[in-house]
Amino acid sequence: MYLDPNWRILTVGDGDLSFSLSLNQMLAQTPDAKGLVAASVLDQEEELLAKYQDCAFHELKQQGSEVFTALDITNSETWPESLKGRFDALIFQFPLIPSFTSKEAFEKAGGLTTNLLNRRLLRLYLQHAFSFFLDPNGAQLALISSKDLKPYSQWDLECGIHLDLEHQGQPVQLLGMRPFLQSDFDGYRIRNVDRDKQIRGTKGTTYYWSVKPAASYPDQQLIEQLNPPTHPVGEPVSEHYCNWCKTGPFASAEDRQGHLESRRHSNMQALDDDWRTFLKSVSDI
Ligand SMILES: C[S@@+](CC[C@H](N)C(=O)[O-])C[C@H]1O[C@@H](n2cnc3c(N)ncnc32)[C@H](O)[C@@H]1O
Repeated sequence: MYLDPNWRILTVGDGDLSFSLSLNQMLAQTPDAKGLVAASVLDQEEELLAKYQDCAFHELKQQGSEVFTALDITNSETWPESLKGRFDALIFQFPLIPSFTSKEAFEKAGGLTTNLLNRRLLRLYLQHAFSFFLDPNGAQLALISSKDLKPYSQWDLECGIHLDLEHQGQPVQLLGMRPFLQSDFDGYRIRNVDRDKQIRGTKGTTYYWSVKPAASYPDQQLIEQLNPPTHPVGEPVSEHYCNWCKTGPFASAEDRQGHLESRRHSNMQALDDDWRTFLKSVSDI
């Protein structure tokens, strides 16, 4: 993950807060770093302390960091006004919707599939990062780290999440990606969404979005660190390669057609059709 030590960072949905603590310690060890880390979690304080016995809540506070509990990135009523327009970068590590705890909670979700709910979470995170938390005069970055396996790989982060998403008339664009290495973050334990259990380290990728296009992004040092998107938004299949299924290069037009008709690709197509139908049915995201 490429990070500038001068960025003002807000972490979102940071489970046991070990990622925020690790970032904070990294900054403290970087000479002349002007950045800061404010941390946030979805859980209420009591829930957080009960769920993760070794969470970093008190340690972060002792180090002078702000920690916000019960911050739901999808719900503006939970955002302190003091966070408005304050950050250069938001980081959401391994977002995943919590599982339903009751029939009532399931019904409240409007009967949406878990795939749609996860895509919706990611899109609302991007939307709200730009509309509320990021400083319009800052670096303007929203980062997500995600895993390269199911169900994460079925959310189409590269070509689908930000489809037609705009902020003040500017398209939200994927600047690029970098491999995510847990070993770069001392003490970071990637947590399961609902439990005090660690997720085994698997391959991950950090995605960087902005409303400033890559070609004219003011910090070209950042752009040089990123692998550019392989496919344009909304177009996951090129002549030679399928970004959804990570399949290719296709040897011929028949080979490509065979892939498009495969069960694996058809499943992704059905998820994408659902997503596009969902986006058309809601006016506010
Ligand atoms: C797989 S866990 C990862 C936790 C942590 N970021 C890590 O890397 O260990 C997914 C996290 O997403 C958070 N989350 C889910 N929905 C959220 C929302 N609407 N707002 C903020 N956080 C959310 C959950 O609380 C949970 O901590």
